[in-house]
Amino acid sequence: MAIPKISFSATINGQKIGPVDLPEDLMAVELLQEYLNLTGTRLTCGQGVCRACTIIVDGEEGSRTVPACITGIAWLNGRSIRTIEGIAGKDTDGRPVPSPVQQAFLKHFSFQCSYCTPGFVNAATVLVESLAKAPIPVAEVEGRILTALDANLCRCTGYVRYYQAVREVILSTPGLTVDGPAQTANATVKA
Ligand code: FES
Ligand code: FES
Repeated sequence: MAIPKISFSATINGQKIGPVDLPEDLMAVELLQEYLNLTGTRLTCGQGVCRACTIIVDGEEGSRTVPACITGIAWLNGRSIRTIEGIAGKDTDGRPVPSPVQQAFLKHFSFQCSYCTPGFVNAATVLVESLAKAPIPVAEVEGRILTALDANLCRCTGYVRYYQAVREVILSTPGLTVDGPAQTANATVKA
């Protein structure tokens, strides 16, 4: 029996894709890795648990993270998506420049195997972008980091250095917080 297809279009990392006929049961991670050669989105649990496969969906209501392993392309149809390949900026010669979040993860040695890293980068990116639109008091930063990154699992380094890096980005970037000096207390992290 032929697999039903849908006409799929989307904007991925700023580039328009489609319309192209694709199997309607295709998951976003399969679309990215097998059809578009965007292999930075990691498939790990495949069950929506670890968030290594986190991608960003942009909309008028704001940006949100979704797990690409359990998000079907039918839901993504017509939407604007960012993957880890679309996070870095470019210098004047067109060479990639890591985003502030990526630079902070490198500086703090936040990862080892890095399998979880694209998910952390994307989750932290959405957090930082949301704070640029709606700054919060410094006293609320720890809670927002925990909330934003809580679903992302890491089994190498623990979480302390990821959280330290995100905290540094938030507290050192003008306009993300609205009052008070930079706080230095560590976030309480999950085991
Ligand atoms: S691979 Fe998607 S949540 Fe784990
Ligand atoms: S760095 Fe290996 S799972 Fe996070």
